[in-house]
Amino acid sequence: MIRIGIIGMGIIASAHTKAISKISDFELVAISEINEERAKEYSKDLGVPYYTDYKEMCEKEKPDAVIINLPHFLHCESTVFCLEKGIHVLCEKPMANTVEECDKMIAASEKSGAKLIIGHIQRFFQGIGAIKEYIDNGTLGKLVTISEVRNEYYFADARPRWFLDKKLAGGGIIINHGAHGIDKILYTVGEDITNVHGECGNFYREEFDVEGHANISFRANGIPCTISLCGYETFFSNQITYTFTHGALRSDNSGLHICDEKGGTFRKLELPEPEYGPFEYQLIEFAKAIRGEESISPDGYYGRKVIETIEKVYAEN
Ligand SMILES: NC(=O)c1ccc[n+]([C@@H]2O[C@H](COP(=O)([O-])OP(=O)(O)OC[C@H]3O[C@@H](n4cnc5c(N)ncnc54)[C@H](O)[C@@H]3O)[C@@H](O)[C@H]2O)c1
Repeated sequence: MIRIGIIGMGIIASAHTKAISKISDFELVAISEINEERAKEYSKDLGVPYYTDYKEMCEKEKPDAVIINLPHFLHCESTVFCLEKGIHVLCEKPMANTVEECDKMIAASEKSGAKLIIGHIQRFFQGIGAIKEYIDNGTLGKLVTISEVRNEYYFADARPRWFLDKKLAGGGIIINHGAHGIDKILYTVGEDITNVHGECGNFYREEFDVEGHANISFRANGIPCTISLCGYETFFSNQITYTFTHGALRSDNSGLHICDEKGGTFRKLELPEPEYGPFEYQLIEFAKAIRGEESISPDGYYGRKVIETIEKVYAEN
């Protein structure tokens, strides 16, 4: 049994607590949250002690592992603290705000031997796993291009304000949403990423210093890829399209779609009901990584590659 704590009980925390309750490898032992009201509420609901100081939680509860759900600028310092204590870390994406911070996190993991895993959750989406199988089996011929279009109003009042401050979030829509797109692509085709370019800016909510739109292009294992992101009040889109010589696959919020006839259109592919959701699969793979078994969990070297890609785009703008 892996005794696990959670650091940061904001928006994404409940996805992790629900997953922990379903996966028997883990036992939730404590939570940490600086907002004491929120901490108390979660503590009551979950029946575990709360701490407003994550360092105290680690020292008193001595968890084997933690999940870090903090604002991006705190990922590095909290991860390094835990890894130095020999605590395995699942750190939410993006790994950190800069490559320099990623290097500190990797060094701490190498020194203590505690595992460092990054929460790139979208590789655990059922449709993405299915696309990877199609690519590996060559069913639709040779993969030609990949393009993701993700449009979602980025400046919504419900978004915690730290996301809109570059010092705290490291950037805007690229480091937050783009990190998912980069991960999906590298996971499905391979991690050799070259020819990274991009343009980004903020044409709409200029009172915030983070970018609200971007067009990014790169090659992943030789395949030309584009990611288009728009956080303004335009049409909604959350889709990624893989075009092959003999068809295409598209994953979006309604599922996975295939086009497998010349000049044809997309039709929905019915996939079997999955046993678990993405957050449960992420934990199952985290447990394997902790036990030293083969795992598809993205490690710190991989998380660094995503941040390096994003830094290249920011450097061009
Ligand atoms: N995997 C996903 O699909 C997904 C979705 C949303 C967010 N995220 C990522 O999860 C992380 C958290 O995002 P969120 O939306 O939950 O943000 P959030 O602002 O809702 O949550 C962060 C929480 O951390 C708390 N906090 C701040 N400093 C702390 C400290 N020193 N000790 C303890 N608690 C502290 C805040 O009070 C807040 O409750 C980010 O990295 C974000 O990019 C991932």
